[in-house]
Amino acid sequence: MDSREQLKNELNTLGDCMRWTQSCFEKAEIHYGHGTDNPWDEALHLILGTLRLSLDSDPSVLDCVLTAVEKETILTAVQRRIEERVPVPYLTGRAWFAGLEFIVDQRAIIPRSPIAELIEREFSPWYVGKQLHRVLDLCCGTGCIGLAIAAWMPDTEVDLADIDPQALQLARENAAHLQLEQRVHIEESDLFEALRGRQYDLIVTNPPYVDDEDLGSMPAEYRHEPGLALGSGSDGLDAIRQILAKAAHFLSPDGLLVAEVGNSWEALEQAFPRLPFTWIELEKGGHGVFVLTAQELVQGGETLA
Ligand SMILES: C[S@@+](CC[C@H](N)C(=O)[O-])C[C@H]1O[C@@H](n2cnc3c(N)ncnc32)[C@H](O)[C@@H]1O
Repeated sequence: MDSREQLKNELNTLGDCMRWTQSCFEKAEIHYGHGTDNPWDEALHLILGTLRLSLDSDPSVLDCVLTAVEKETILTAVQRRIEERVPVPYLTGRAWFAGLEFIVDQRAIIPRSPIAELIEREFSPWYVGKQLHRVLDLCCGTGCIGLAIAAWMPDTEVDLADIDPQALQLARENAAHLQLEQRVHIEESDLFEALRGRQYDLIVTNPPYVDDEDLGSMPAEYRHEPGLALGSGSDGLDAIRQILAKAAHFLSPDGLLVAEVGNSWEALEQAFPRLPFTWIELEKGGHGVFVLTAQELVQGGETLA
């Protein structure tokens, strides 16, 4: 009997598989960064997701005996997670963002932006304009940010834009999955290029912002994600520079820009010393998210050319 068959004989319950997977993850020193931060949660997401069981399943599910096919499926997924370093959401096809389930695959980066926290707070206290109606999710990827805004704030109409047709196709699938197609418009655009003449109360963006140094040292898991979603020039600021230069034209007078730049926040501060960025303290973790009002963008305009 080969070792895989022997393993399948020894692992009987879902709990057995969880314990074994957790040990394998510990030993393999995989990187956590796509939805969990420890081996137990990583095993839970992988195994429950693979079996299409809810993440908040009753703990008694751990005592359930697995079928031979289920064990085989789990062993294959664990092997790919360790040997190929495939992130769990690409193995299960699902990820959670702002309390909503998204379809994910390698057409787009895996949702994980800390902007989810601001969506759940409906951008309070940052958005102080009239009722929030017109919203843009620029660089939308899977559509997680724009679709979550549409779901959490039923009075909004949301445009989602990305340069990558593959990501846009996935965003459309997610709009259908979440039954939000009526209130969202998804289109291909190189930043603001195809959006000329439009005005938004709120522009939210999580553009590519990884600098060359970080890009070169990223764990292998990130190499499964589209390169277009990560790198943005040597200092990571190529995309956000263009966004800052143009955002004011696309915002209503009391509009707000919300952007994530992660580790590139210090480089951004240095590049634009006269822009009064407000960096948001995030209760659920993450960093490098700022807000700027339309007025602040206009006043700082001469520094942006
Ligand atoms: C960091 S990902 C964010 C995706 C999604 N908003 C999220 O939070 O998961 C950046 C996205 O920007 C898109 N992108 C890169 N360059 C772009 C450009 N010039 N115009 C529009 N989108 C662009 C990529 O295709 C990718 O989907």
